[in-house]
Amino acid sequence: MTRPCNDTFLRALLKEPTEYTPVWLMRQAGRYLPEYCETRRRAGSFLQLCKNPAMACEVTLQPLTRYDLDAAILFSDILTVPDAMGLGLYFTDGEGPRFERPLREEWAIRDLTAPDPWDHLRYVMDAVAEIRRALNNTVPLIGFSGSPYTLACYMVEGGASSDYRRIKGMLYDRPDLLHRILSVTADAVSAYLNAQIESGAQAVMIFDSWGGSLSAAAYREFSLPYLQRIVGDLICKQAGEHIPSIVFTKGGSLWLESIADIGCDAIGLDWMIDIGEAHRRVGHRVALQGNLDPGVLFASPERIAAEARRVLDSYGPYNTGHVFNLGHGISQFTPPENVTALVDAVHTHSRLLRIKNE
Ligand code: CP3
Repeated sequence: MTRPCNDTFLRALLKEPTEYTPVWLMRQAGRYLPEYCETRRRAGSFLQLCKNPAMACEVTLQPLTRYDLDAAILFSDILTVPDAMGLGLYFTDGEGPRFERPLREEWAIRDLTAPDPWDHLRYVMDAVAEIRRALNNTVPLIGFSGSPYTLACYMVEGGASSDYRRIKGMLYDRPDLLHRILSVTADAVSAYLNAQIESGAQAVMIFDSWGGSLSAAAYREFSLPYLQRIVGDLICKQAGEHIPSIVFTKGGSLWLESIADIGCDAIGLDWMIDIGEAHRRVGHRVALQGNLDPGVLFASPERIAAEARRVLDSYGPYNTGHVFNLGHGISQFTPPENVTALVDAVHTHSRLLRIKNE
């Protein structure tokens, strides 16, 4: 496999020197883009958009047409995996994702099995292959999945939750049941990510969006070991190229050293931590991805550029190991032109920093 023409993102993850700091944005294809809203309207719904490879491909490419981004991310959702496990995913306006059959009964948990990604999630593999063809080796394609704990939150709660009362009750009263869910889900995620890699994904990211709601002890028992198991199960090399993995535990800054130890290539950072401090703590063991406050994109272009420079300066005078991103997904209310200001500032300032440090 030849690397893409612009392989800056892959080189930064593998800690090879780069001429500038690569940038992409979580949820870069989404409702802040009018062209996304138009395609979604044509698809009929968000889920129909995810399940139609041609349309998923179209929206994946939309932000790359507008902005000078260094990576594409598969357009899909983390909840496709529990949907394929038979939980019945649907979306309601205002309330977000919901499941028709949440995991509440012991028999349902015992019956849970990992779906074959080539069968039940074939539409995702078809989208990956179609996006790779459409990208034509311009920039790398990132595949992704939710983490077992984050997926379990939705599977047990039945949707988004503000207090996680059902899953926390299970975690403390019936840890055996939660471990059963996490174990089956970890197998499902490993198979799913490996199928994405075989279909053409050139890096993978695991979203542990709710891992930060756990205590330190619970994180060590219910999230981290499953992340480690998945990272260990990943196909490391595809067509001669190492496939880097990124682990993002939102709210996980307290545990960076432990995350760096699980064997991933990079850690995603939310915006609560200073990236310079994160860098000092993990050293050169892993690359870092992040970590601008998504709220900065509501400010003026000048302020956005200044805040982007602050993150780059804080990371330090190194010519690799940092992928610029937001600390969480871009808001649907972001003015699209502000993203241009951000991407330009990251590229311009990081080039200057390298010249200054030569
Ligand atoms: O980054 C990308 O551009 C790739 C696409 C992507 C989506 N969801 C598209 C999406 C990715 C990587 C995700 C991951 C995801 N999905 C996570 C983990 C990341 C995070 O944000 O912490 C989570 C927790 C989900 C579950 C989910 N999907 C929620 C909570 C929602 C509702 C959000 C909302 O703002 O309404 C979704 C829907 C969703 N996933 C949308 C998009 C573009 C909006 C759907 C729409 O068009 O109505």
